[in-house]
Amino acid sequence: MTDLAGDVVRLGLLLTLLAFGLWIGGASVAAWVGWEKGRDPIAWFVVAFFLSPLVALIAHDLRFWENLPRMFHNPEAINWFRDKGAHTEITAFRNGTLQGAYYLLALRAVGLDCGAMSGFDNAKVDAAFFPDGRWKSNFLVNIGYGSGKGMAPRNPRLSFEESCRIL
Ligand SMILES: Cc1cc2nc3c(=O)[nH]c(=O)nc-3n(C[C@H](O)[C@H](O)[C@H](O)COP(=O)(O)O)c2cc1C
Repeated sequence: MTDLAGDVVRLGLLLTLLAFGLWIGGASVAAWVGWEKGRDPIAWFVVAFFLSPLVALIAHDLRFWENLPRMFHNPEAINWFRDKGAHTEITAFRNGTLQGAYYLLALRAVGLDCGAMSGFDNAKVDAAFFPDGRWKSNFLVNIGYGSGKGMAPRNPRLSFEESCRIL
């Protein structure tokens, strides 16, 4: 890994775990897979397009419940998710997504630029990086220091009234 790659992964992961290490975070861990250009021939052409020096692949562990006996105070918790099919899958996906969001915040908090991306072929990525099927990719994060050149203006955000409902 380059210095940047090592720093980013270590710093981002550390901040994520320290600042946002909720129970769910411990239960469903996102994978931080540093990928440097040229290291793997997988056709991540979309990544090359962004020319970022490092890519983190956010993924979730479908067997996260195996960690629960040492991550949660209630020894029964493992039974809430072991062999529970879709319930376990959606829980892993939800919690891995949250971990990925925290990771984005952590990266930006330490001054790095990052852009999340979906829209790639998850099945191909999973076959390349997680062939045993236990981990599932969610989205990737292009990381670096943006030049700011050729950038479109930041897109608008919905107002509070448009995006929130007082129930
Ligand atoms: C999970 C996730 C996936 C995204 N996937 C894409 C994508 O595939 N293509 C794209 O143009 N933008 C995608 N975006 C949006 C860009 O990452 C976003 O516009 C960019 O980070 C700009 O920064 P901003 O959010 O600070 O405005 C995605 C965002 C998130 C959170």
